[in-house]
Amino acid sequence: MNDVSLITQGAEGRVFNAKFLGKNVIIKHRFKKTYRHPDLDDYLTKERIKAEVKSLVRCRMVGINVPALYDVNLHASEIVMENLDDAIQARKFIYERKADRSEVLGIGKEIGAVLAKLHSNDIVHGDLTTSNILIRPSSEKPIVYLIDFGLSYVSDKIEDKAVDLYVLERAVSSTHPDSDGFLEVLWEAYREKGGKKLNSVLLKLDEVRTRGRKKLCFG
Ligand SMILES: Nc1ncnc2c1ncn2[C@@H]1O[C@H](COP(=O)(O)OP(=O)(O)O)[C@@H](O)[C@H]1O
Ligand SMILES: [Mg+2]
Repeated sequence: MNDVSLITQGAEGRVFNAKFLGKNVIIKHRFKKTYRHPDLDDYLTKERIKAEVKSLVRCRMVGINVPALYDVNLHASEIVMENLDDAIQARKFIYERKADRSEVLGIGKEIGAVLAKLHSNDIVHGDLTTSNILIRPSSEKPIVYLIDFGLSYVSDKIEDKAVDLYVLERAVSSTHPDSDGFLEVLWEAYREKGGKKLNSVLLKLDEVRTRGRKKLCFG
C-alpha cells in the first residue's frame, strides 16, 4: 500500500489516492468520532456510507455524472471509487476563471442542468457546495460531476429539494461573493431543464430563503 497518499482530511473522514486492481482510485474512509456514543457513531457512519453508495448507483443509473463505485466495505468504513484525477473542484474552477465571466456562467448553467436531473429523479444531495461539485475539462463544454453523497436521500418533496438548493445558495454566496449572475444562470438552467415540476421547487426556495432570513434575525 505504498501508493496511498492523503488528499483531504475532513471532519468526517479522510480521502486518499490509491491503486486498486491497477487503477487510480479514491478511497474514502470515515473514522470513528470519540465524542459520540460508539453504537450511535457506528450506526451513523454506516448510514452515511450506505447513503453515499446508494446515490452513486442511483445517479449512475439515470446518467448523472458521478465517480464509478468500485468497492464498499461497511466494516472497514471505506468506499473505493473512480479517481476523477483530471477534474477540479467547482470552487477552484470559479476562483481560477474569475476573469472569464462567460466561462464561469457557462459552468453555472451546466450545474443547474445537472441539479435538475438529480431532483427530477428524486435524489436530494444534502450537502451541495462548490467543493462537492467537480469540473472535468473537455474539448467541448466542461463536464460536471457530483460527489460526496453521505447526506443524500431519496425524496419527492418540494421542500426537501428547495432546502437542497438553499444550502447551495448559501455556500456559493459565502465562497464566491463576487460571482455576479452565477446563481441566476444556475436557477434558469434548473428551471429550463426541470420543467413545471421543478419550477415549484424554485418558488419554494423563495419561502425557504425568507424563513432563513427570519431565523438569522431572530434566531
Ligand atoms: N472520486 C473523486 N475523484 C477526484 N477527487 C475526489 C473524488 N472524491 C473526492 N475527491 C476530492 O476529495 C475532496 C473530499 O472528498 P468528499 O467526498 O467531498 O469528502 P468530504 O466528506 O471530506 O468532503 C473533494 O472535494 C475532492 O476534491
Ligand atoms: Mg466534500
